[in-house]
Amino acid sequence: MTATVTSTSAQPAPAGITFPEGFVWGAATASYQIEGAAREDGRGPSIWDTFSRTPGKVHAGHTGDIACDHYHRYAEDVAMMADLGLASYRFSIAWPRIQPDGTGPVNVRGLDFYDRLTDELLGKGIDPVVTLYHWDLPQTLEDRGGWAVRETAEAFAEYAQIVHRRLGDRIGTWTTLNEPWCSAYLGYGSGIHAPGVQDPAKAFKAAHHLNLAHGLAARALRAAGAKNISITLNPCEVSPLDPANPADVQAARLIDGVANRIFFDPMLKGAYPADVLEHIARITDLDHIKDGDEAIINAPIDLLGINFYTPSYVTAKPGAPGALDYPGSQGIAFRPPVGPVTDMGWQIEPASLTRLLNRIHRDYPGTALLITENGAAYPEGPTEGGEVHDLRRIEYIDAHLRACHDALAAGVDLRGYFAWSLMDNFEWAEGYAKRFGIVHVDYTTQQRVLKDSAKWYREVIRRNGLE
Ligand code: FCB
Repeated sequence: MTATVTSTSAQPAPAGITFPEGFVWGAATASYQIEGAAREDGRGPSIWDTFSRTPGKVHAGHTGDIACDHYHRYAEDVAMMADLGLASYRFSIAWPRIQPDGTGPVNVRGLDFYDRLTDELLGKGIDPVVTLYHWDLPQTLEDRGGWAVRETAEAFAEYAQIVHRRLGDRIGTWTTLNEPWCSAYLGYGSGIHAPGVQDPAKAFKAAHHLNLAHGLAARALRAAGAKNISITLNPCEVSPLDPANPADVQAARLIDGVANRIFFDPMLKGAYPADVLEHIARITDLDHIKDGDEAIINAPIDLLGINFYTPSYVTAKPGAPGALDYPGSQGIAFRPPVGPVTDMGWQIEPASLTRLLNRIHRDYPGTALLITENGAAYPEGPTEGGEVHDLRRIEYIDAHLRACHDALAAGVDLRGYFAWSLMDNFEWAEGYAKRFGIVHVDYTTQQRVLKDSAKWYREVIRRNGLE
C-alpha cells in the first residue's frame, strides 16, 4: 500500500517533540557582562576592568562599566524572567564584589546584592543556579600571578565558602567555574581575553590550577552542605576533516586532549591522560602538578554543565602555525566554517551537539548533564513598531533543542537547557557589537524589549517542547 503525502509547504515542518517532565528551562548571564556598577558598593577591579581599558583589546574600547545596568535593574529583569516563564536563572557572582582584593576582607555590600537578587528570584519561583567564577578575577590576584600560580586556586576555595555561608540556605546548584578552557587558553595562550598573556607554559599551568580550584571548591562546598555541585565546560566537538586519514585522526585526538580530556579526565576519572601529560611536558615541566592534586580534582560532582555553540574540524598540515589557544598545535589547521554561520562567524551544525552529548555519555558514564549555554549572535534590532524579528535565532535554538532531544532519545541524562543569553550584553573582546540576547537591550536608554525569540521561547517552556 502506498501512502499519499500532502504538504502545504516545500519543506515539511519537523514533528513536534516533548521534553521529559521536570526538564529545566532557563536562561543565563554573567556578572561582568551585565551588571555594570563597576565601582559601586566596594567592588574591587577585575582583570576585565584592566583589559577592557587596555587600548586595542576590546572592540571600540567598550567596557563593562555600565553594561546592562543590571546591578540597579535586577528587580525589573527578574520580573521579565518570570514573564517568560523561566524555571531557572543562571548568573555568576563577581569575586571582586565579595573580596575586592581576592583574599582577605569580605565586602558585605557585595554579598548583599546577591542576597537581594536571590530573594527576588525565589519570590518569583525562579531557581537560582550560581556560577562562582565567570572570568572576572580580582586584579590583585592577577598581579600575584593569576591562574598561573597555585595560590589562586586556594584563594578560590576560600571565596567559594564565603559565598556559600551567605547564600547556601537558598541556593541549590553551585557551579564552580565557567569554561576553564577560555580562562586558561584565551587568557594566557592567545591572550584575546583578560589578562591578555601569550605564554603556552602559563596556559597549561592555568588549566591545572583551574582544575585544582574546582576540586578544592567542590570539596569545601560539599563539606559545607551544598547539594548540587557542578562545573561548566565548553567542550570542543572536534572531528578529523578526513576520518580516513590517520594524520587527521591524530590531529583531532591532540586537540581533544588539550581542549577536553585535560578537564574531563581528572574531574571524572581522577587522572590526566598519559598523552595529555606528554603533550604538556613538551611545553613546560610538570612540577605544578603535585601528588594528590588529581584526587582533589576528582571531587564528586552532581551535574556537568555544557556550553555549546559550534563544531570544529581539523586537519594535519605540516608547517601550519597552529592555534595559540591550543598550545602545541603546530602542524594542525582548523577548517574555516562551512555553510551558514552566526554573526560571530561560528558554523551552525546542530547534529554536532548530539554527537558531543552522546560522546560524553559514552566516555564518562553516569554524568548528569545540563546545557548551561547555547544560543546565537545576530544583529537584528527593533523595527519602527518596536518589535525584533530574530527568526534566525529561533531557528538556531529550535534546531539545537531538537539535537538535545535526539541525545535524550539515545539515553543521555540531560536535565535542562539554558539559553545564552537572557539579554544582549558585553560580549568580551567583541564588546557590545555582538548581540546574543533573546531580549534586546538599548544601551542608551537601558530599555529591554522581548525579541521574537523570547516570545517563542516562552511558548516552548509553556508546552515543554517544540511544535
Ligand atoms: C561563552 C561564555 C559566555 C558568552 C558566550 C557567547 O564562551 O561563557 O560568557 O560570551 O560564550
